[in-house]
Amino acid sequence: MDKPREEPFWFAWKEPDERVVALAGQMKKRGMKRVLDLGCGAGRHVVYLAKEGFEVYGTDISMDALERTAQWLAEEGLSATLKRVDMTVIPYPDGFFDAVISLYVLHHNTIANIRTALSEIRRTLRPGGLFFATLVATGDFKEGRGQLIEPRTWVVEEQGYEDGVPHHFFTEDEIRAVLEGFRLIELERGERSFVEEATGHLVLSAHWEVWAERRKGDKNHLHGHATIRRARS
Ligand SMILES: C[S@@+](CC[C@H](N)C(=O)[O-])C[C@H]1O[C@@H](n2cnc3c(N)ncnc32)[C@H](O)[C@@H]1O
Repeated sequence: MDKPREEPFWFAWKEPDERVVALAGQMKKRGMKRVLDLGCGAGRHVVYLAKEGFEVYGTDISMDALERTAQWLAEEGLSATLKRVDMTVIPYPDGFFDAVISLYVLHHNTIANIRTALSEIRRTLRPGGLFFATLVATGDFKEGRGQLIEPRTWVVEEQGYEDGVPHHFFTEDEIRAVLEGFRLIELERGERSFVEEATGHLVLSAHWEVWAERRKGDKNHLHGHATIRRARS
């Protein structure tokens, strides 16, 4: 009999990341209301931001994750709009969001799809809208695990929730290149060592922290997936 799939470790994440708390403060100061959490997982930021009074949207490819988020919102008596879509699709109009956040999500794809996702983020942000993301960096302990399908994209082949999931490991130059259409406010590499439970080895986790905004003069552009789809339908 198959072993039941283990629960993803991020289902246990209950506290908002401190950088999202900082962003919420900035948004309040600037009178920003509408925020998308792309790859919202089990809902720690959707719930936090809804509690703080924002108009919150969450997307994720995992129905289990969205159900967790919906349940948590209901328990708190809060509401948000949740949709199951791949990161390459943001089913909202051009310039819709004041801010988009995406923590530990965007690297889970091929570089072409990540570029499409970033184009969608840029399209759906209003000019001057804020973007905060974390992306896995080269040198992270998972780099080199599984099958290499293109430069720096590895598909993990482990039993469990990461089986078949791509991880693209970013260099600094590549991050700067894929964010070309944005105004990059800050880019920082963060590293943390910890003992990996499965192997007992001391490993290094490495991520890029990205703060950017859609350029103020950026006109709505037609490269976005959703824009093209809408135009054809
Ligand atoms: C490590 S979790 C992070 C969850 C959340 N951002 C947080 O910080 O708590 C990664 C999330 O990315 C989602 N994800 C992975 N690939 C995706 C894709 N192609 N499109 C949308 N979401 C995806 C997963 O389902 C999962 O919920």
